[in-house]
Amino acid sequence: MVATSATARDGWSSRTAFVLAAIGSAVGLGNLVRFPAEAGANGGGAFVLFYILCIVLIGLPVLLCETLIGRHGQAAAPESYRKLAVESGASRAWELVASLGVFSAFLVLSFYCVLGGWVLYYIGTFAADLAATGVTGPAFDGVPYEEVEALFPAMIGNGMVTSLLDLLFLGITLVFVARGVSGGIEKVAVYLMPTFFVLLLGITVYGFFGGAMQETFAYLFTFEPEKLTPEVMLAAVGQAFFSLSLGVAGMVTYGAYVGRDVNLAGTSVVIAGADTAVALIAGLCIFPIVFAAGLAPNGGLGLMFQTLPHAFQEIPFGSLIGLAFFVMVAFAALTSSVALMEVPTAWVIDRFNLRRGAAAVLVTFGAAFLGVLSALSTGALADFHPLGFIPLFEGMGTLDALDGLTSKLTMPICALLTSVFVGWIADRRLVDSENGLSGGVHLFWRFLVRFACPLALVAIMVFGLMG
Ligand code: PFF
Repeated sequence: MVATSATARDGWSSRTAFVLAAIGSAVGLGNLVRFPAEAGANGGGAFVLFYILCIVLIGLPVLLCETLIGRHGQAAAPESYRKLAVESGASRAWELVASLGVFSAFLVLSFYCVLGGWVLYYIGTFAADLAATGVTGPAFDGVPYEEVEALFPAMIGNGMVTSLLDLLFLGITLVFVARGVSGGIEKVAVYLMPTFFVLLLGITVYGFFGGAMQETFAYLFTFEPEKLTPEVMLAAVGQAFFSLSLGVAGMVTYGAYVGRDVNLAGTSVVIAGADTAVALIAGLCIFPIVFAAGLAPNGGLGLMFQTLPHAFQEIPFGSLIGLAFFVMVAFAALTSSVALMEVPTAWVIDRFNLRRGAAAVLVTFGAAFLGVLSALSTGALADFHPLGFIPLFEGMGTLDALDGLTSKLTMPICALLTSVFVGWIADRRLVDSENGLSGGVHLFWRFLVRFACPLALVAIMVFGLMG
């Protein structure tokens, strides 16, 4: 007989394991690629300051909502929402909010692994270069910049390569998810996250002494109020949600494996703090290298896949630093893709009473299908626009359309309804017995969940959809 509740099957072996896994989920391509790119595109310091404000006033309260729903329910996300709704005398239809989150996690998983595959490609490229140039030399010694820059369009245009690497990244993710919470998911976090932090600090210290740190500080932390436009604010709120893994039922799912002895409020602060610190350190790690090479901090994917490789051409030990950098990115991406796969997997286990291995394989097949469509959308299938009938996604290939659909629609809707659910619908005594808050902080959190978070999320969607 297969147990139907998530914790009856498995759970975190300690609070530390949960904290590392949750940080592993939060820290990913969002911190290392998206944050520096968004900061660059949105005026540096103004964006950074407002981002931190969003994390504290919106992200953190919703993070606590998600983990408390999960811990209370001790089951896959939809069942956890249903339990809290029914016990609060509300409609069980609230479980649909979680179903939307599970669906979003599945969609994000499908294209996140494509980007993970790109990172694997660069690991291979730098490893080959290191073997050729040796440890002390710069990367791609003597190769003209145009050729280094051309690596990226050549890679994403080659559907065979991107598809195979997507499947490889998805396969690695599957191995850990299939092994369960304490046997696989927490192992990947417990080993990879500390290694990640060592690499991140190592490269940052290198930038500190060898790179253009002063310029970086001025760029990231000079606050120019006139640069804080509504667009910049919206970009910052969106980034805060993506970075904390909110709106995809991810933290609900991880929360369901947490024991009653853990203080969820304190733990949420640790998770959000670590995630924000990594985003800031990622900025301090990437920009000095870029500035030291005399390059402009262009935003977008080009920053990671073109500007940085070029910067590694200009610095001593460039080959080695480049390899370490992409290994670090891959580790961060893997702990996030594992979290993304766990969300639909936990749901399939609970819903269809399947064994974990079978459930994870099922999810992998679905994600592989959509993933290959995304992988091909930067090449052979560039003209296939699956959501082209919706004006917002007109002309977008699969990868961009899925990214837009989740970040602009499904994730904010799920987070908005979650804060309304916890703030207005759920039984206050049940909520208070889980959140670990008291006094003024408790009242403040309640105010944020009931008013500030829903309003901010409605604003993101209205402006996001209009823009
Ligand atoms: N927070 C991750 C990042 O910043 O890359 C992305 C993510 C992971 C979103 C897991 C959602 C999730 F459930």
